[in-house]
Amino acid sequence: MSISIRPLAAGDAKSLPIIHSNAVRVMAREHYSQEIIEAWTGAFTRADIESALNEPQTQWLLALDADEPAGFALRHGPEIRAVYVHPDHSRKGLGRTLLTELEQKARQEGHTSLQLEASLNARPFYQKQGYRDVTRSFFNLPDGLLMESVKMTKELS
Ligand SMILES: CC(C)(COP(=O)(O)OP(=O)(O)OC[C@H]1O[C@@H](n2cnc3c(N)ncnc32)[C@H](O)[C@@H]1OP(=O)(O)O)[C@@H](O)C(=O)NCCC(=O)NCCS
Repeated sequence: MSISIRPLAAGDAKSLPIIHSNAVRVMAREHYSQEIIEAWTGAFTRADIESALNEPQTQWLLALDADEPAGFALRHGPEIRAVYVHPDHSRKGLGRTLLTELEQKARQEGHTSLQLEASLNARPFYQKQGYRDVTRSFFNLPDGLLMESVKMTKELS
């Protein structure tokens, strides 16, 4: 097994919706309705990614498993916006490695804590990495749909 992490390049954008939609459809299906799953997968397009790639204060990472794009993560300042791992590559430590790398760079930038809004399926993953619940919340999806979530935080030591 060879896992590597590198900054996302423009040419990687096409891989992200595939990773995203598979991760959501497989890993979240027991936690949300089909309607929510479809709205969640549709809310993340290649065009969105390409326009967000060069936003200031963002850190995009791509995880490769044996040279194959297998996961990605996004941080905006002190906010973790995304960690997604394709289900074919889950539970191999890719998610943890992506998150750890985001945290290291956030520390270097002087952030003392990180915030995120976790899907219910991802909450145990974030708890394992030291994040604690702040409050229950709802994430706004297209068409006025609301997706139950948990706001979480971690102090960076
Ligand atoms: C959450 C997610 C990123 C985890 O990625 P992953 O690469 O499979 O996670 P890791 O292998 O790094 O897991 C590290 C540890 O977290 C915990 N963990 C990971 N997934 C878990 C799950 N579904 N349930 C319980 N614990 C979990 C485990 O303790 C695991 O260690 P172990 O495998 O030695 O027991 C991935 O399942 C995913 O993409 N989910 C769907 C998308 C999503 O909801 N992303 C978050 C949006 S807020």
